[in-house]
Amino acid sequence: MKVLVIGGGAREHALCRSLSLDPDVTALHCAPGNAGIAEVARLHPVDAMDGAAVARLATELEARLVVVGPEAPLVAGVADAVRDAGIACFGPSAEAARLEGSKAFAKDVMAAASVPTGRSYVCTTPEEIDKALDAFGAPFVVKDDGLAAGKGVVVTDDIAAAREHALACGRVVVEEFLDGPEVSLFAVTDGETVLPLRPAQDFKRALDGDEGPNTGGMGAYSPLPWADPKLVDEVMETVLQPTVDELRRRGTPFAGLLYAGLAITSRGVRVIEFNARFGDPETQVVLARLRTPLAGVLLAAAEGRLADQPSLVWRDDAAVTVVVASHNYPGTPRTGDPIEGLADVVAQDAPHAYVLHAGTRLADDGSTVLSAGGRVLSVTATGRDLGQARERAYAAVDRIRLDGSQHRTDIARDAAEA
Ligand code: AMP
Ligand code: GLY
Repeated sequence: MKVLVIGGGAREHALCRSLSLDPDVTALHCAPGNAGIAEVARLHPVDAMDGAAVARLATELEARLVVVGPEAPLVAGVADAVRDAGIACFGPSAEAARLEGSKAFAKDVMAAASVPTGRSYVCTTPEEIDKALDAFGAPFVVKDDGLAAGKGVVVTDDIAAAREHALACGRVVVEEFLDGPEVSLFAVTDGETVLPLRPAQDFKRALDGDEGPNTGGMGAYSPLPWADPKLVDEVMETVLQPTVDELRRRGTPFAGLLYAGLAITSRGVRVIEFNARFGDPETQVVLARLRTPLAGVLLAAAEGRLADQPSLVWRDDAAVTVVVASHNYPGTPRTGDPIEGLADVVAQDAPHAYVLHAGTRLADDGSTVLSAGGRVLSVTATGRDLGQARERAYAAVDRIRLDGSQHRTDIARDAAEA
């Protein structure tokens, strides 16, 4: 089948890599893509946010399946435009993607479906904000209601900083602080049947030891040796299935990837957030472990046939991914620097370790790869356990040279030693 992937980050590179290894995929296209995706898919300079243009491209390419990677086009209705053109699309409608696009909407769905999450207030005035901050006390959790590219959430002990962020947002959700390790669990769903993937853990802070500002994610690993083996079943029963059922009941079924960001608190599992798409960088490690060819699963979800899909098959391997970011990320990053050593990773580390590109582009010479964003690339590695996967990932990271770049050195360290 011919597949078109929309987006151009490391998540889309991971999706394209898996799809390129799937024998059922006869042609793979991506818009807009990046320098790494160009090695496995044909790129098209189409704006991911333009639903009409994406639908036109999919029609021209005779795509059997379109996969929309990032949240912004989903919230903007790009999946609806593709489906309206009669083409199967993996990704929720704009209505269902509000689960990610509005924190207040997500809270409302969770309340209706009795899904465990932090207590919260939706606030629009300074008086409501102060009342909510007072009610919960420190640490304060303040979330912009709308999409904010990973920068909408402030967690702080400083009430002045919490208030300042809340006032800057307009409509905010003020939430109780949830203590405990975080887990990301993804599920593929057609709006009715839910197929959970394997849990992963993401590292959100910029610096080692979970210091520094929040980022889009600096690394991830899977499996989670410390987690309760019953965690996936529990989250299926208390979170994923009830949420999917509630959205179907409302007449806006969610078909695509449902991402549950969870806190494992002393009082049980709580939802921190939902996303309406594969997470980055967790996708890199989850897909590295999936043995079942990907295209058929995504197509079955897009066509409402997930109930007939055989169980997913997983490798025993562990996987670790380490993000290499530009100088100054998550502030305004420095871009346009050459990235060296990519060929050395292919020569010395493949197939156990490989580079997935995020913010990269080809220079005018057609061969030099340049940094073009905050998160530049991620190195993903597999191994018999987290220790080996970690060693392989960092050996490959050490071969990559990008002036001023930064990465965390403690991805999966505690879990590997546990
Ligand atoms: P989000 O954008 O909702 O994923 O939030 C970003 C990060 O903020 C999460 O991964 C958590 O580390 C943190 N966070 C969000 N909500 C809470 C909460 N209620 N309690 C503690 N930390 C939170
Ligand atoms: N890894 C966090 C996210 O994708 O939102």
